[in-house]
Amino acid sequence: MSGSNCILVTGGTGFIGSNFVLDWMGAGPTTSGKPTSDTGIINLDLLTYAGNPANLAAIEGRPGYTLVHGDICDATLVAETLDRYQPKAIVHFAAESHVDRSIVGPEAFLKTNIDGTFTLLNAARSYYERLTGEKKENFRFLHVSTDEVYGTLGPHDPAFHEKTPYAPNSPYAASKASSDHLVRAWVHTYKLPCIITNCSNNYGPFQFPEKLIPLMITHALNGKPLPVYGDGQQIRDWLYVSDHASALVAVLERGRIGETYNVGGGNQRSNLAVVETICALLDELRPDSKFAPHSQLITYVKDRPGHDRRYAIDARKIESELGWTASESFETGLRKTVEWYLANPGWIENVTSGAYQQWVQKNYGDRTGIAPASEVVAR
Ligand code: NAD
Ligand code: DAU
Repeated sequence: MSGSNCILVTGGTGFIGSNFVLDWMGAGPTTSGKPTSDTGIINLDLLTYAGNPANLAAIEGRPGYTLVHGDICDATLVAETLDRYQPKAIVHFAAESHVDRSIVGPEAFLKTNIDGTFTLLNAARSYYERLTGEKKENFRFLHVSTDEVYGTLGPHDPAFHEKTPYAPNSPYAASKASSDHLVRAWVHTYKLPCIITNCSNNYGPFQFPEKLIPLMITHALNGKPLPVYGDGQQIRDWLYVSDHASALVAVLERGRIGETYNVGGGNQRSNLAVVETICALLDELRPDSKFAPHSQLITYVKDRPGHDRRYAIDARKIESELGWTASESFETGLRKTVEWYLANPGWIENVTSGAYQQWVQKNYGDRTGIAPASEVVAR
């Protein structure tokens, strides 16, 4: 693709990125099929273990979509990509995203999440300063971040809002908090027109089965233990991934420069309740499974070090200012998600097979690290 009718997305082959790209191009697995925009997408992605090209098979070869295979830490590549494609905006998803991996190997998190964001900001600044007229006026850098920057909540604390002080607890959260601070500094110092979003836990199609929901679904289908960390009473606030994608579009179109918007669906659930709901859905959808009732597979395991107890998002700012609301409840979104995994055994097989892991090792080398095996403890 040439010309400037495009946006640059980083990490567009990962879980949220691929859902955003597919929805944008009208090819989302659970959405209407109506494109969000006729603007094309350039996807800069390193294709780590989490960047699965199969996620974007539906748009492969389509006009309007281009993959640039490379690292956001590569300053030359980032600058060349911006100069070549002249995007109208940047949506920055690329990151190391899994908390457990950040505990066993934080280096890659610091590299991609901090260094990579710095590299991107620097290149975006140089690109932006050379823009003129309407293109300069409308340019945006949207930084996709997380509620984990705010730390952890007690059972009766109010939900995280945009003014909640940062208190990151894991290496992942600290790296994302650092990247948010860099973005803030680039707005304040260099007037780069950035906006930050801090979102709660996402779930939906194409999520790598190291994260809670797809891990539990794929384990249950195979009769493997369902490892619940600690007492399973930690709380997360779940958002269906397409609702996150639509929030990002709203922010891109109508968000105010320099602002932060918290994004969440108002679905606080304990981990144990989430796992039990998945088991009940599988009992209903796979009544003949030899592993039913699937809840018999629940196994309490050693807790995650430094495990944040509760996250909850106050999304009133994005709702009232930008008119965004989530369209899926947790019940409808989780059903869609379980149905999607049941309908896509080939995708699961592809990402969990030895062949995929070898591909990851070859292409991703030392920065992979298979998800840490949970240590089973008797209770
Ligand atoms: P993911 O791990 O599924 O995907 C990350 C993507 O980034 C992959 O395509 C990967 O190949 C790419 N990538 C990694 N390092 C790169 C590099 N150095 N250069 C270029 N590409 C690189 O992540 P996700 O869950 O889709 O999360 C996307 C973003 O949203 C992240 O910034 C994450 O912090 C944020 N976020 C995630 C959640 C969630 O629940 N998953 C919630 C809130 C915010
Ligand atoms: O809150 C937003 C964040 O949500 C994102 O920024 C991160 O990128 C994303 O990975 C997610 O972080 P969590 O640590 O909350 O997600 P995870 O799926 O790893 O775990 C969800 C909860 O489930 C958490 O309390 C740990 C627990 N858990 C997780 C796994 C993988 C288990 O009990 N057992 C498991 O096997």
